[in-house]
Amino acid sequence: MMCAVDLNLRPRELSRGLPALLCLALLLVVCVGPTAAQETSSDGSHDSSHETNDSAARDGSHITRKPAHVMGVGGAPWLEREGRAAEEQSALVIKAMELRDGDVVADIGCGTGFFSRPMARQVGPTGKILAVDIQPGMLELLGRLCEKEGITNVEPILGETADPKLPAGGVDWILLVDVYHEFQEPGPMLAKMLESLSPRGRVALVEYRKEGTTGKHIKPEHTMTVREVLSEWHPAGFELVDLLEGLPSQHLFIFRRRPDYARAEGRE
Ligand SMILES: C[S@@+](CC[C@H](N)C(=O)[O-])C[C@H]1O[C@@H](n2cnc3c(N)ncnc32)[C@H](O)[C@@H]1O
Repeated sequence: MMCAVDLNLRPRELSRGLPALLCLALLLVVCVGPTAAQETSSDGSHDSSHETNDSAARDGSHITRKPAHVMGVGGAPWLEREGRAAEEQSALVIKAMELRDGDVVADIGCGTGFFSRPMARQVGPTGKILAVDIQPGMLELLGRLCEKEGITNVEPILGETADPKLPAGGVDWILLVDVYHEFQEPGPMLAKMLESLSPRGRVALVEYRKEGTTGKHIKPEHTMTVREVLSEWHPAGFELVDLLEGLPSQHLFIFRRRPDYARAEGRE
């Protein structure tokens, strides 16, 4: 959109110049203003809650939500339940990621590897899934299922509550399904995830909806609103690329590193 504006207006010319000034104001909003994806919640309301101070965000102190309890190994059968793929339309998540041969994907909070296993086939033998969990019992179950299915490109990683132990700058995709709300130390985890992304790195975040009724079968502490997620992720250095609402009960957010974040951190 182009528009030429003469700003040297005398008072009598001002009224004639008003349309041009309005045009300039519109141009500024379009060019300088934040994207609709960053600023609008799924309920259509303006979200300014994530416009917090970047320096406060680095230690995670901007996140005041009480995390949910971590699902124990006893929950493994629920993760592998028959009909889950159809019920959650999980293939759509992997499709949205458009994985390529050779991609390195971190599945943080992998559990039994319900997502790691199909993704391992998608990235091919030159690609790799870094399957991270804080419970050795989950990694054991994942290992057994991979062996049974002949999958050899899944690398189990025993993470810590504040550190997924990923290689810095070495991850093309991070997938988080139904786990972010469980992070006991979300601030340090967000910082470590940001550090691990490759230059083209993206994060796919799947969380049950708190808004509306589609996530009502899930305990409230295991659900999140768009507003909550953005208010935690944007100050931590992530930019929303897409918000996909095509899953039956869950939000699917796609994030990348905020291009301005290094400057905000004082590293540039
Ligand atoms: C509800 S399960 C989801 C598993 C898997 N993403 C799925 O959808 O099938 C959450 C898993 O995240 C793990 N978890 C919780 N906090 C974690 C953290 N900080 N780092 C890595 N894994 C974590 C738990 O141990 C559990 O296995």
